[in-house]
Amino acid sequence: MREQQENAAVLRVRGLNVDYQTKKGAAKALKDIDFAIHAGERVGLVGESGCGKSTLLKTIMGVLPKNGDVTSGRIELDGVNLLEVDDETRRKARWAEVAMITQSALNALNPVRRVGDQIIEAVRAHRPIDKQEANALVHRLFEMVGVAPERARDYPHQFSGGMRQRAVIAMALALSPKMIVADEPTTALDVIVQDQIFARLRELQAENQFALILVTHDLALVAENCQRVMVMYAGTLVESGPTEEVIAAPKHPYTIGLINAVSVLGSDKQPISIPGSPPDLMEKIDGCRFAQRCPLATSICKDQMPEAVVIASPGGERMVRCHHWQQAEDFALRASNPDVWQSVSAV
Ligand SMILES: Nc1ncnc2c1ncn2[C@@H]1O[C@H](COP(=O)(O)OP(=O)(O)OP(=O)(O)O)[C@@H](O)[C@H]1O
Ligand SMILES: [Mg+2]
Repeated sequence: MREQQENAAVLRVRGLNVDYQTKKGAAKALKDIDFAIHAGERVGLVGESGCGKSTLLKTIMGVLPKNGDVTSGRIELDGVNLLEVDDETRRKARWAEVAMITQSALNALNPVRRVGDQIIEAVRAHRPIDKQEANALVHRLFEMVGVAPERARDYPHQFSGGMRQRAVIAMALALSPKMIVADEPTTALDVIVQDQIFARLRELQAENQFALILVTHDLALVAENCQRVMVMYAGTLVESGPTEEVIAAPKHPYTIGLINAVSVLGSDKQPISIPGSPPDLMEKIDGCRFAQRCPLATSICKDQMPEAVVIASPGGERMVRCHHWQQAEDFALRASNPDVWQSVSAV
């Protein structure tokens, strides 16, 4: 079973480290990232602002800004390391094999071109397509994402926000990619439109079997839409596993804190946010990056980065990077008391 899963990985990231060069020095934006995504899987990537979610997606897409450096690691798409291929192969892999949907559909669409024409152009950049075939493709893609096909002749400003985001999804699907990475794709939309778009995305994914990485701040969105979740903190993956299991029994104190910080509608449970803020990424940190805010931290946490521990579980493998993960169950019971978090003094 394990062997099969290894083989079916669409994307495998190994030992990935990314720095941003700044005037003040190098900021370690991604540190020792390892994970795999399998065909047809939907995986949520969560973590607070600035933890490196967009950096990870940009690195996978090969669109890091100029000051972003991959200092080590591999990004294997169907076994081929994208960090070693030439620019042309890389360009072809972008969109045709991995497509990206960003938060702002407005940025992805050209305001002075008809929406349908933009989709055709995106396809033509990768393969020749005649006019009749192009029109039929746009018609089919618009139907797929739930926009009336005759609207393909409209300009982006004639679309509502939800329609624009659907058009961007249509563009992402146009080349039948193996994988779609979506960076907060519906944050700008109201929850009803958001739910409709995700329902459609799930259906499309079941039909087309592309793998999906969904970046979001919203754990509830991950619970509804993703079989697996990866939790990121200050550039490292601290926990991953089947979504239901991670939410029901988190193993990392940071995940416990994130879950505590979500308010539940209709419940009198008070959300508790984690006091403090993530570390400065310029600083050299030898130990666990969460140690300064962690009620469980001891001296080892400050000195040594915890190894990734893999735990067998009913729904698939789980991973946690914490020296004290075996205390997680007990800590989760105490963690609903805000005093437990407030009492953390720098270790
Ligand atoms: N071009 C850049 N130059 C220098 N530092 C950068 C650059 N882009 C991002 N960073 C830094 O890298 C870290 C990770 O940023 P990133 O945008 O990946 O986070 P994020 O998890 O996507 O956050 P958000 O949830 O706010 O979108 C942050 O500390 C950020 O300040
Ligand atoms: Mg981001």
